[in-house]
Amino acid sequence: MYISAALITFMLEAFRGTPPPDNGTTAVSGTFTVVGTYCVPDDLSKNTLQILVHGITYGKDYWTGLGFGDEFDWHVAANACGYATLIPQLNIDTFHYLLNSVRTFPANPLGRTFSKLVWVGHSYGSFLGSTLARQFPSDADALVITGFSTAGNFSGVLTAHWTAAAHHAPALANLPAGYLTRATEANRTAVFYAGAFDPALPPFDFRVEGTITVGEAAAIPVLPEAAPAYTGPVFIATGAQGVFFCGTIQADCDAKLAASKHDFFPAVADRDFGFFAPDQTGHDLRLHLSAPLTSGKVHDFLDAHL
Ligand SMILES: *[C@@H]1O[C@H](CO)[C@@H](O)[C@H](O)[C@H]1NC(C)=O
Ligand SMILES: *[C@@H]1O[C@H](CO)[C@@H](O)[C@H](O)[C@H]1NC(C)=O
Ligand SMILES: *[C@@H]1O[C@H](CO)[C@@H](O)[C@H](O)[C@H]1NC(C)=O
Repeated sequence: MYISAALITFMLEAFRGTPPPDNGTTAVSGTFTVVGTYCVPDDLSKNTLQILVHGITYGKDYWTGLGFGDEFDWHVAANACGYATLIPQLNIDTFHYLLNSVRTFPANPLGRTFSKLVWVGHSYGSFLGSTLARQFPSDADALVITGFSTAGNFSGVLTAHWTAAAHHAPALANLPAGYLTRATEANRTAVFYAGAFDPALPPFDFRVEGTITVGEAAAIPVLPEAAPAYTGPVFIATGAQGVFFCGTIQADCDAKLAASKHDFFPAVADRDFGFFAPDQTGHDLRLHLSAPLTSGKVHDFLDAHL
């Protein structure tokens, strides 16, 4: 218990922007097996792959809308528009390696290359996308960053109760102490849901909730930085009532999303930028009734810009 308390304090300090000083860095190397989910449309003539990257305390099931129906499932929406999708579970240098092998190395595990790659992130996965665009500006041909703005307000993280993931559910019982998760359904629902959603989702979501690791928390102070050399198309979609990145008022959210482009992607032409703030929608866009509207806006944008 004591170890969890210290790790929770460490994570909260990272969200507050005042992490404890680090004691230097250590280079690590190794051979890693990457597990992924790959979905392809019947017609692959667009030759475009979307890389889907979820947010904190979710896993790859976020993109299927936790299995609550095809209308919430991003793979179904993307495949219907002719885009293939891939969900890997990685960090920046491994993403860089993966994107390059998918683009240039036909003997990769997908068995083919794609000429265009689109980063589709949610929340933490959006910040990883902007970080990739900063470090490797030509890796992605377009960025779709959801549950994101540069006006972050993490008070909903700071006032929530957290616990060691191993204490939360039998499925997580073997995770080490560095894996944390939310302790109460009310706290999880308060930050992830708002407006119009299936009331059966939040209790299910809490039962199957995923984790944040202290390693992910440690990266939070350095992730929110601009990508000044990235010039490709950018689309931002964030729930108008998402507590972390918008607030409650539609017009305020629209203004925050427009400002985020100038803050993070100053070299992107205005004609290559779009945004959408669905009303009646909290932080988890995929888990609200507006999900089909949002994926429609995103694919209209990609069709017009790729
Ligand atoms: C990190 O540095 C601090 C301050 O110099 C020191 O007190 C602490 O013992 C160091 N921790 C580790 C794990 O080396
Ligand atoms: C930050 O979000 C909380 C809700 O999580 C809200 O009560 C507070 O007013 C927000 N702060 C600002 C400065 O918008
Ligand atoms: C989490 O729950 C506690 C206890 O009910 C409450 O005081 C706090 O405001 C909640 N925070 C959020 C973000 O829901």
